[in-house]
Amino acid sequence: MKTERILVTGGTGYIGSHTVVELQQAGYPVVIIDNLSNSDRAVLDGIERITGIRPDFVEGDCTDIDVLRALFAKYTDIKGIINFAASKAVGESMQKPILYYRNNLNTLMNLLELMGPNDVKGIVFSSSCTVYGEPDVNPVTEKSPIKKATSPYGNTKQISEEIITDVINAGAPFKSVILRYFNPVGAHPSAEIGELPNGVPQNLIPYLTQTAIGIRKELSVFGDDYNTPDGSCIRDYIDVVDLAKAHVIAVERMLMDRSDEKIEIFNLGTGRGVSVLELINAFERSTGVTVPHKIVGRRAGDIEKVWADPTYANNVLGWVASTPLDDTMRSAWAWQCRLRERGIM
Ligand code: NAD
Ligand code: UFG
Repeated sequence: MKTERILVTGGTGYIGSHTVVELQQAGYPVVIIDNLSNSDRAVLDGIERITGIRPDFVEGDCTDIDVLRALFAKYTDIKGIINFAASKAVGESMQKPILYYRNNLNTLMNLLELMGPNDVKGIVFSSSCTVYGEPDVNPVTEKSPIKKATSPYGNTKQISEEIITDVINAGAPFKSVILRYFNPVGAHPSAEIGELPNGVPQNLIPYLTQTAIGIRKELSVFGDDYNTPDGSCIRDYIDVVDLAKAHVIAVERMLMDRSDEKIEIFNLGTGRGVSVLELINAFERSTGVTVPHKIVGRRAGDIEKVWADPTYANNVLGWVASTPLDDTMRSAWAWQCRLRERGIM
């Protein structure tokens, strides 16, 4: 077991839980803080079943600095932070902008404020390809232009990147790795943890798997008149376990001082653009399950196409998104079936 503890905020959430598994398997002691606003305590059972270790867990809100102070007072061995805790629904952020700015920005600022006094060496921050907006050129590199955010959610990611940069440029005694995720999908191959959306899913894969299992009647494909080969939108779908592994590398890089840079930014994607219709085909091909679907009008605010150039992460982090898309589709389906077995969905 390593001696440096990692604080994982939002660690019972979708990407956080997969990352806790990878951290524990790499030998890091972990403490999770989560207010369970978008996840369930039962996720801890899944993590324990996979790794044999139950991570320490604090139920608490990161916007409350006193809760974080108490956590740092109890866990004096925290050397790294991975900050997943945030509100993440783009549509909801248009309706409740203050909730988004308050939750996402206060969480980050509280953590940054407490890092120095508690001798924490680095913070990994969950950013998003949403910062590139509708790119003029694909694939996007880390140097591609940042476009004006189209939602308060997207704006919180842009502002967060600026806050981290300002704080570190002002001489803060720690480092940061900013990870811009493309579209995380799939579940742990054990089907012990996965994505558990609240209510009607807004994202493609949970809607697709819920349709495949019969919870939803049919999947709506939002538009087939885009300027893409089959007319549907293109994204870069990255397996959540591949994504989780990048966090372990990023944390280690800061703890071991492997870089001279105090702030680094990496795109985390596969480098492969996949259309909505191609993704449905991949799911049907790899699982043998049919997904009833129909073409409907475009969804307001959707980007036509975006995919990553992950060369920088490949070369500098030595990280590659290696899981074949078909395996990811199978893991997403196995997770949906597990939820059904457990009577959850
Ligand atoms: P998620 O909602 O599954 O996980 C976030 C977790 O944070 C949840 O468990 C929630 O209960 C918790 N949380 C929220 N606010 C909190 C607070 N104030 N204090 C304590 N806990 C709090 O989301 P996810 O998909 O795992 O996303 C993780 C991070 O990655 C987020 O920052 C998100 O914006 C970012 N991201 C996600 C995607 C995606 O498509 N899933 C894409 C790009 C970036
Ligand atoms: N789509 C459908 N039908 C659906 C749901 C989605 O056709 O029922 C399409 C969308 O139009 C889009 C693609 O599937 O073309 C992917 O949509 P998602 O909602 O799954 O993902 P987005 O790319 O819109 O957004 C996601 C996250 C954001 C994040 C962004 C970039 O939801 O939080 O990826 O990381 F900012």
